[in-house]
Amino acid sequence: MARIAVVGSINMDLVTRTPRPPLPGETILGISFDMLPGGKGANQAIAARRSGAQVDFIGATGTDVFGTELRKVLEDNEVGTAGLRTSDGSSGVACIVVDDSGENSIIVVGGSNTRLTALTDTDRDIIAEADILLCQLEIPVDTVAEAARHARAHDTLVLLNPSPAQPLSPQLWELVDIAVVNEGEAERLSAELEGVDHVLTTRGGAGATYRGPRDSVTHPGVAVEVVDTTGAGDAFTGALAARWDEGPEAALAWACTAGALAVTTLGAIAAIPVASEIQRIVHLLRRQPPDPLTGQLSVRHT
Ligand code: RIB
Repeated sequence: MARIAVVGSINMDLVTRTPRPPLPGETILGISFDMLPGGKGANQAIAARRSGAQVDFIGATGTDVFGTELRKVLEDNEVGTAGLRTSDGSSGVACIVVDDSGENSIIVVGGSNTRLTALTDTDRDIIAEADILLCQLEIPVDTVAEAARHARAHDTLVLLNPSPAQPLSPQLWELVDIAVVNEGEAERLSAELEGVDHVLTTRGGAGATYRGPRDSVTHPGVAVEVVDTTGAGDAFTGALAARWDEGPEAALAWACTAGALAVTTLGAIAAIPVASEIQRIVHLLRRQPPDPLTGQLSVRHT
């Protein structure tokens, strides 16, 4: 079983569904409102856990009403919380609008995530004992860099999902073994990604690609009914980390399937599939050629 240390964010997602996003200055009527746990770090931690890894989360919740609930979500999902602290003030919050096509727009207010400014001895031990350190960019970049340096010093692989995209130092990029980016990030970061050994690019319904030191692999998209795309990239990334030890091609197929299944349900963590579900679909997809018109694999015969 892979051991994963996630140093990252945890948010309460305030999710409004509307037929379409409002225009500037416009008021529209929404369809539903839900408060659902999320945050790129927590989403990826739970995705890795549901894919069968042993996972520890290093992060911070606030002292507001959301803090207790967010901690409980990690505990309920059997993610280790020895590295989770409570910091005075508000928790991270994400205001999310999901439209009829399942597309989302998100504003994140970092709250306690922005106060994760240094690692403790416990955090350092967790990172040193892990196979993979998994980071995103919803916490201070200096903390990501500190975690990555410590990981490198202890032969822990560094997997970075540089999202939300922002400029990073060349020194930090040098510590990255595996990067997971979406198409926009791949374009913006093309120069930086050249120096990274393993790069995975997610392409939504068109699947994902892997580029490594020896070979490249493309996995077709998986045709599913899209309800909410929030957190699909996180489901992909966490699932990938959990299965990385099986080799890039198998891990890519696993992660693509996890990401596709994650868009079929509202919410980020709520939509992350479990290993048995992913396994069943991976097995079925293996025996099907892509649709000649869409290029996608289909699970409609399941
Ligand atoms: O990647 C999806 C996540 O982005 C949401 O859960 C939200 O919290 C924001 O961090």
